[in-house]
Amino acid sequence: MGLVGIGNIAPLNARGYLDHPDCDVVAICEPREEKAQHVAAEWNVPKVYTSLDAMLEDDEIDAVEILTPTHMHRDHVVAAAQAGKHISVQKPIANSVTEAREMIAAADKAGVVFRVSECALHYPPLMKARELIAEGAIGTPNMIRVKTLIGGKTNSTFGDSLEVEGYIWRFNELSPGGHLFDDVWHKYAAALWLAGENVRSVQSVVRQGPLFFEAPTAAFWEYERDDLLGLMEVTYAPNMFLRSEFFGADEFFEIQGSDGFIWVTRYTGQMLDLPPVMLYRADGTTTSYGDIDASWTSSMSGASKHFVDSLLAGTQPDMDGELAIQTLQLAFAVYQASNERRPVDPSTIETSVSPPWWPIYPSKA
Ligand SMILES: NC(=O)c1ccc[n+]([C@@H]2O[C@H](COP(=O)([O-])OP(=O)(O)OC[C@H]3O[C@@H](n4cnc5c(N)ncnc54)[C@H](O)[C@@H]3O)[C@@H](O)[C@H]2O)c1
Repeated sequence: MGLVGIGNIAPLNARGYLDHPDCDVVAICEPREEKAQHVAAEWNVPKVYTSLDAMLEDDEIDAVEILTPTHMHRDHVVAAAQAGKHISVQKPIANSVTEAREMIAAADKAGVVFRVSECALHYPPLMKARELIAEGAIGTPNMIRVKTLIGGKTNSTFGDSLEVEGYIWRFNELSPGGHLFDDVWHKYAAALWLAGENVRSVQSVVRQGPLFFEAPTAAFWEYERDDLLGLMEVTYAPNMFLRSEFFGADEFFEIQGSDGFIWVTRYTGQMLDLPPVMLYRADGTTTSYGDIDASWTSSMSGASKHFVDSLLAGTQPDMDGELAIQTLQLAFAVYQASNERRPVDPSTIETSVSPPWWPIYPSKA
């Protein structure tokens, strides 16, 4: 394995590769050589490259995990595919649907495995919820509700350690949107993956919030099946302290079915003192799954482990190109529906969509 980019999120993703008994991380690629050397020594990684082209010539590397800023994903994925490496790239897949399609086509042409590393699909409480849905524990799902709450205050040491460079490209024209594109991507992905079907129509109101936040936002969507809807809210509470080891935000998921409902009560924070998964059954009984590993870091290392396991098994890892395109189109459809004040079919979006105030901090201003 070769790791490309070792910025803010890399330590959490690298762990699943570094700890995997059947995977050797043989190189790090990072233009900041001093940092790369330091991290390589810490992680016991033998080689450092400062250019991706040089790394891609290394025959010891079978696969790459691309952890570079989102606007670079297209070029880095196409180069890796042309070099014959299997590819895992961080979410969001790319800045536009056009670029995403180019990446998938390049991987197909080269005959390499391609996936987007989407940690929500490897978060144990969400995996449990999906397993319960598949078992029929709540009958036929009819509503999927996803809440994201951003608190004004937190005391996360991880948050305090983040490099400011990782935020510049998220706030300017190098990104097509703010928080709804960058972070809420995870929630769009989860809403599609839990339902197991695509969305055909989206309505929304997106308001500009502080920094790159887009809150309050309310969106709802129709899945392909007539009797299944999705509801999403994103709120910002400036005076609220939110317990979190990461970003001072948290999430809540509710899947209502004909026979009961499931709550997933957290994701990146610890907003509520509740078990991570709760099930209400048709007969009125409740089951709490209190012993599930609910640490967000497990979703990251789980995603990395899953990529290696899938390569070794010869199976397609999550998230595949199709789900990644659907997630990207859903993210853009929420912006477009609010911009145009009308329902939008996500599958009609082939480029990108931004909110009217974007970019909030243009670098060329
Ligand atoms: N799974 C998650 O929950 C999650 C969380 C945060 C970020 N991400 C994603 O991970 C990616 C990186 O985010 P980040 O916050 O770590 O960003 P960052 O800016 O902190 O890190 C990017 C790193 O890439 C390096 N880089 C730049 N150009 C490069 C090149 N040509 N070759 C190799 N390395 C290069 C930078 O020097 C930096 O170290 C983004 O796509 C982001 O959306 C995923």
